[in-house]
Amino acid sequence: MAKDTLTITDNRSGKQYEIAIENGAIRTADLQQIKTSAEDPGLVGYDPSFGNTASCKSRITFIDGDKGILRYRGYDIAELAERSTYLETAYLIVKGELPDAHHLSMWQHNITIHTMVHENIKKLMEGFRYDAHPMGILVGTIGALSTFYPDAKDIDNAEARRLQTRRLIGKVPTLAAFAYRHTRGLPYVYPDNEMSYTGNFLQMMFRMTERHYRPNPVLEHALDVLFILHADHEQNCSTNAVRSVGSSHVDPYSAVAAGVAALYGPLHGGANEAVIRMLQEIGSVEKVPEAIKRFKAGDGRLMGFGHRVYKNYDPRGKIIKQLAYEVFEVTGKNPLIDIALELERIALEDDYFVKRRLYPNVDFYSGIIYQAMGFPVAMFPVLFAIPRTAGWLAQWAEMVRDPEQRISRPRQLYVGEPTRHYEAIEARPEPLTREDAVDATI
Ligand code: ACO
Repeated sequence: MAKDTLTITDNRSGKQYEIAIENGAIRTADLQQIKTSAEDPGLVGYDPSFGNTASCKSRITFIDGDKGILRYRGYDIAELAERSTYLETAYLIVKGELPDAHHLSMWQHNITIHTMVHENIKKLMEGFRYDAHPMGILVGTIGALSTFYPDAKDIDNAEARRLQTRRLIGKVPTLAAFAYRHTRGLPYVYPDNEMSYTGNFLQMMFRMTERHYRPNPVLEHALDVLFILHADHEQNCSTNAVRSVGSSHVDPYSAVAAGVAALYGPLHGGANEAVIRMLQEIGSVEKVPEAIKRFKAGDGRLMGFGHRVYKNYDPRGKIIKQLAYEVFEVTGKNPLIDIALELERIALEDDYFVKRRLYPNVDFYSGIIYQAMGFPVAMFPVLFAIPRTAGWLAQWAEMVRDPEQRISRPRQLYVGEPTRHYEAIEARPEPLTREDAVDATI
C-alpha cells in the first residue's frame, strides 16, 4: 500500500523530496535533507511557542479544540466529572485503565500512606517570609523533596517511578496546605488518612481548634470534581516544562517543580487569580461594557477567555459553571459571578471575541468557586497544581519510557551579528544609548 507522503519542491535547487506522513504529521528531522549545498545544515522548522509542532506521541489525553472535547485515556471529561473521583481518575491517567475495586482500594492506600512530609520540610517552610506566595513555596518545597528521596534518581527503574508517583500525589496537598498555613501564621495541620483526598486537604487547610473537623460534603465533592477537571491537559506549558526538564533524566521532583514554576505564570495557572483581580477591578455589572471596550482596545486582556487549543467553549468551563451554583447553595453567592456572567454574555455576542474564537476557559469560573469556598486568591494556582501532579507524572513516565525521546534541545535561527573581533575598550565606538541598543528591552 502506498504510504502517505508530502512532496516538496525546493525552488532554490529545483529538487523534489518525498517526506513521509505518519499520524497526520511529518518529522521535521526529514526536512534536514533539503539543502542548497553540502555546507548547508538543512531546512529546519521554525515554530516559536510550538503552535504547530508535536513534541511527543502520547496516549494520555485527547483534545479537540474546535469541538470542545477533552478525554483522559478515551473517557470524556464530563462522564468522569459526573461518575468518577479524583483518585480514581488519577489512577486512570497514570496507569491507563480504570481500576477494579481491589486495585482502587490499594491505590488509595498507597497514596494515603505517603501524605506525611519529613519534619525538615517544615523547617524549610519556616525560612520563607510571612508574605511568601504559596506557589513560590510549592516550587521550592517540591524541588527540595528530591533531596529527601535520592532513590528518585533511578528513573529507569519502574518500581522507583511508581514509588515517587505515589509519594508526590500523596504529599502535594500536604505541602500546599502547609504553605497556606505558613502565610497565615497558623500551625500546620497533619494529614488525616481516614478522610478522602480532598476532605483531608480541606482539613489541613481550614481546621482550627475543632476536635473532629468534617468538611461540608458538597464542598468536598465540588473540590474533587475540580481536581478531576484539572488532572491533565496534554502538552500545555507546564507539562511541556515537566517533559523538557525530565528529558535531562533528572529526578521527577525536580521535573515537577519545573511544572509548578511554569504553572505559576498569569497566562497559565495564574489566570484564575488574574480573573478574580480583574472582576474586583471592574467592580460592578454596569462597568462591564466599559471594561470590554478597554480589552478590545488592547488595554489588558479579558482574563479567563481564550485558549491556545480550544476555539470553542472549554468543556471544563461548562462543568465548573454548573458546579458554582451547587457551591453557592452552601456558601452563599459570590457577588463576582454576576460580573462574570455579564462579561461572558457581552463577549460571546461581540464581534472582536467571536472573530477570534475567544470563549471562557477553565479559569473563568473556577476562581469564583474557590473564593466562595474560602480559599485566598494566592492559593488558586496551588489548587491547580495539586491535581495536575497526576498528569505531570503520567506524562513524565510516558516520556521516560519512550525510546524516541532524547534530551529536549530545540534549534534556533541565529539572526545576530556575524563574526566580530574584540576591540580594546579605548578603540570602541561611542557607547550605545539604551534606546539604540539592539536588545533595548533587556
Ligand atoms: N482578551 C482579549 N483579547 C485576547 C484574549 C483575551 N483574553 N486572548 C486572546 N486575545 C486576542 C489577542 O490579542 C490576539 O488578537 P490579534 O490577533 O488582534 O493580535 C488574538 O486574540 C490571538 O491571541 P494570542 O495571544 O495569539 O493567542 P494565544 O493562543 O497565543 O494565547 C492565551 C492563548 C494565552 C490563553 C490568551 O487567550 C490569553 O492571554 N488569555 C487570557 C489569559 C488566560 O485566561 N489564560 C488561561 C489559559 S487556560 C490555562 O492555562 C489553564
